[in-house]
Order: sequence, then structure tokens, then C-alpha cells
Amino acid sequence: MSGISHDNINMKEKKLVINYIEYDSLDEMPAAERELMERSMKAAATAYVPYSHFHVGAAVQLADGTVVTGSNQENIAYPSGLCAERVALFSASAQYPSLAVTALAVVGYHDGQYCEASPCGACRQTMAEYEMRFGNSISIFCYLNGGRIRKISGVKSLIPFGFEAEL
Ligand code: THU
Repeated sequence: MSGISHDNINMKEKKLVINYIEYDSLDEMPAAERELMERSMKAAATAYVPYSHFHVGAAVQLADGTVVTGSNQENIAYPSGLCAERVALFSASAQYPSLAVTALAVVGYHDGQYCEASPCGACRQTMAEYEMRFGNSISIFCYLNGGRIRKISGVKSLIPFGFEAEL
């Protein structure tokens, strides 16, 4: 017989469920969450994007309430640039190495309006590292087209089965 058999009695099908919240608009958000999103929107204006013309703003909240922002920074050697989320996370870690990250907001800006920006895989892996490092869950807020906001509680929901190792 050729092909993959599905008759193996040891095989177990498993299911992964991801819970998240969607707010209809910024106005629906609790004040602290809305302010973080607004900081990311302001940060989008500082993006250096001569190649993609796609601005991204990110705002990282730390355990004591401090907010560190970032925006995407591009380079003529394309892979040398960096996403807004990692600019914000690395900047936060460099300035406040002992403070846990508690939340991150991200937004895109293109053709004169704010738009969806959902973190790329590398940024998700980076966020996962901060959860592991400080042992706390991080909330992620993504601006969606039309002005809705998605809230995901915990990076595991963004990057299930991400790389983990004891090195
Ligand atoms: N980018 C971000 O900054 N964050 C994301 O979540 C996805 C993509 C940037 C990289 C590049 O500067 C531009 O958006 C277009 O891909």
C-alpha cells in the first residue's frame, strides 16, 4: 500500500482554540488600553519607510506603566531594516532591562489612513522571549481595518508551538 495511512491507532487529533476580543473602536477600550494604542498611532509618524511607504507604529507598556514606542526603520539592504514592534521591544529592554513587558499595541498607516498591522512571525517570537524572560503574560492590541481593535491575551495565542529550548 502506498501513501500515508491514517489508521494508526496511536495518532491523536488535537485542537487548538484561540480566544481574543475585538473592540468596535478606540472609544470602546478602557482608557489605559486606548492610550497605549494612541501612542502607537503617534509613533507611526516616525517610521522611516522610503522603500515600502508602509508606516508601522508600536507602543510597549512596561510593568511600572512606562511606555516605549517604536516604528519601522528600513534600509536599502532590505533585511537590515527592522519592524516597529522589535524596535520598541529592543529599545524598552535596552533602557529598562529589569522591567517586564505587559502589553504591546501595533498599527499600520498607509495612503493617509490607519490600517491593520499584525505582528510578523519574527516579532511574535521576540515577544514570546519577553514573556519567558519575566514570566508574565503580554496583551497584544492590533489595529484592524475600519478602526476595530483586536486584543489577544498572551503571546502563545499569536505563536503557538514557537521555538523554546533550554540552552
Ligand atoms: N512591518 C512592521 O514594522 N511590523 C509588522 O508587523 C509587519 C511589517 C514593516 C516592515 C517593513 O518596513 C514594512 O512594514 C512593510 O513590510
